[in-house]
Amino acid sequence: MNQSLRTLISAFLLLLCLSATASAKDKGGTFTVGDKTFLLNGQPFVVKAAEVHYPRIPRAYWEHRIKMCKALGMNTLCLYIFWNIHEQREGQFDFTGNNDVAAFCRLAQKNGMYVIVRPGPYVCAEWEMGGLPWWLLKKKDIRLREQDPYFMERVAVFEEKVAEQLAPLTIQNGGPIIMVQVENEYGSYGEDKPYVSAIRDMIRKNWNKDLALFQCDWASNFEKNGLDDLVWTMNFGTGANIDNQFRRLGELRPNSPKMCSEFWSGWFDKWGARHETRPAKDMVAGIDEMLSKGISFSLYMTHGGTSFGHWAGANSPGFAPDVTSYDYDAPINEYGLATDKYWELRQTLQKYSDKRLPSAPKAPMPVITVPKVRLTEFAPLLNGTDSTAKGLRTFEEMDMGWGTMAYEVTLPATHRQGILTLDAHDYAQLFIGGKFVGKADRVKNERSIVVPALDEPTVATIVVEGMGRINFGRAIKDFKGIIGDVTLTVDDDISELTYKLKNWTSITVPDSYAQALHALAIKRGGALTGQNGTRTGYYRGYFNLKKVGDTFLNMEAFGKGLAYVNGHALGRFWHIGPQQTLYLPGCWLKKGKNEVVVLDVVGPYAEPAVFGQDKPELDKLNLETSRLHNNPGDKLDLNSATPVASGELKAGNGWQTIEFGTPGKGRLLTIVAESTQKGDDEVAIAELYTLDAQGKRMSREQWTVKYADSEDIMRGNDTADKAYDLQESTYWQTAKGATLPHRITIDLGSVQTVTGIDILPRAEQGAPGAIKGYKVYVQ
Ligand code: GLA
Repeated sequence: MNQSLRTLISAFLLLLCLSATASAKDKGGTFTVGDKTFLLNGQPFVVKAAEVHYPRIPRAYWEHRIKMCKALGMNTLCLYIFWNIHEQREGQFDFTGNNDVAAFCRLAQKNGMYVIVRPGPYVCAEWEMGGLPWWLLKKKDIRLREQDPYFMERVAVFEEKVAEQLAPLTIQNGGPIIMVQVENEYGSYGEDKPYVSAIRDMIRKNWNKDLALFQCDWASNFEKNGLDDLVWTMNFGTGANIDNQFRRLGELRPNSPKMCSEFWSGWFDKWGARHETRPAKDMVAGIDEMLSKGISFSLYMTHGGTSFGHWAGANSPGFAPDVTSYDYDAPINEYGLATDKYWELRQTLQKYSDKRLPSAPKAPMPVITVPKVRLTEFAPLLNGTDSTAKGLRTFEEMDMGWGTMAYEVTLPATHRQGILTLDAHDYAQLFIGGKFVGKADRVKNERSIVVPALDEPTVATIVVEGMGRINFGRAIKDFKGIIGDVTLTVDDDISELTYKLKNWTSITVPDSYAQALHALAIKRGGALTGQNGTRTGYYRGYFNLKKVGDTFLNMEAFGKGLAYVNGHALGRFWHIGPQQTLYLPGCWLKKGKNEVVVLDVVGPYAEPAVFGQDKPELDKLNLETSRLHNNPGDKLDLNSATPVASGELKAGNGWQTIEFGTPGKGRLLTIVAESTQKGDDEVAIAELYTLDAQGKRMSREQWTVKYADSEDIMRGNDTADKAYDLQESTYWQTAKGATLPHRITIDLGSVQTVTGIDILPRAEQGAPGAIKGYKVYVQ
């Protein structure tokens, strides 16, 4: 064989061998759990995942955001699958357009990224009902996230549909998906291994048998539901003690790879409270520490994006709806740009990468401003009516997922001022004779509205706007509309008369762009005059653009509601803030004429107009000034705080002293009333003192009320400041209908050391409000 023939043959053999390797690679690879490490195609692999949510990014920007994550130094994308956006009506699935999650995964692969999929069925994620579809609640007694036969039947169908889309894209099949998560942080819901196992089995049945499956939870919750055959990963945030987080896992499963499945880069915002941020330094230090120890992570969120339309959820306990922006103070901001956090993190990730990281891609659109657009066209709220039925019904009973309902009822002639008591989810406004009379805001634990004297039976309309369904804890079973009976109580000094209101009409005003167009197209009258003296309803205007770009629509002229541009639902706005602008992606705008529609359920504050600014406004509170002290931003988060005292007070009149075991040092004194001597929900405190090291009463001169969840303002002398006004005959008392627990937080004016409190219930024999179970905090 001559030299050239030999060369030819060996070249041919090499080619054969290369093509065999290529086809094996095309066929797929492996991702497995090795000894203390994950193995990618048999080699140790540290997951550096960026959590991003495809519905929170317009599809036109998906690839840009993926490239941004790649340039940051990540090797994987981690994403939830949001059941309720794919199955908005039972049995009707949509995996197209912005819902085409398979296309998202293919784009990830095209850009050299692996994918971790978290198909719930529950995802939390500050998303409407934690990702569960609202229509599950049409079965009133459904047990969500448990082995309720109907729930499990629907989960099975959903999980099958997800697998139809994504199972062909596992690494074993040549795709980018390396791991799939089973359920989500189940420990904060309950303890139910059989249920979690059933979800695991559904996923295992539908996906490749060799696919790695995992669970995520807080370290403190893990043992409750951890299954032996699934990988355990931990969720914790910036600033956490990382070794502590993995200690228990190390004891129980010493050979397990370690992964933080959600390392929180920032946090989410809720209406009425300040914008959340977390220092870049702490976040980067946490990631650096994990990588130095070979710990895998997913950075939640690397890019948060936007909860467009009505998809933002609400937190609990209490009711704390999330704002539309899901910026999260993440390294890539809401509109896709790198923040200082991004560049700092990138430096660290570069350290742990053997290749030079690619440069960050150019933004797909410029940022533009849009001059003032007047919304001159108007249609009253009830033009948006879809269906009407007799009786007092919830949204779910009316077969409506999202929107507003109006309830009509005739109030009796009372001849005196009365109190309407109701449990409305979420924002109720009472109109009499078409005019705004009062509101009950669930965010502020308000359940009563003062009604003026009526000389004759009068028709009233209660408008109830539904916000996001709760996405955390047991409260996810969050029906919307008026829940339960509504009463009207009139107090005539001698006796109290309570009417249970009957003969209701329930009217739906669904939230959709189509419904808004329908409302604007028909001619009807009867506008309700809102809180600001302006009309509640739909407003429309147009603007022309020479060039398109991303912008931030300033909504401050408006009260509360939803906005659409060119048919795209931008999300909720609320005058109270902190978010005052809505992100309007340039890919939804066009050269020439653009349309903006706003539904305002409380009525504008100023001339109905919007404008586009070049920066978002995520941190401007316009809190209501009222005699009440229930601004959500002033409510302390006591979830992880330790009380200085807890126990039960004795029944009966007179002063009682609560001594703290260890003195508390701080400026804020909080008393939480957990139960009452009468077993009802009403709480009152006539007087209150703090005690110093000698057990002496301290000065109250500097005291102010920071927060009280509920105050009865019917009579004028029952606000929270009456708990320290030197008058034993006046007292703080909670409003009718407001439910336990109740709390009062007093700002002592300076940091003080407190050894106990003296507390006086109402003095009159048999008066309501005496506290039984209590907790006291000094912070
Ligand atoms: C948990 C959940 C996430 C998200 C974060 C908070 O970790 O698993 O879905 O809700 O909390 O942002």
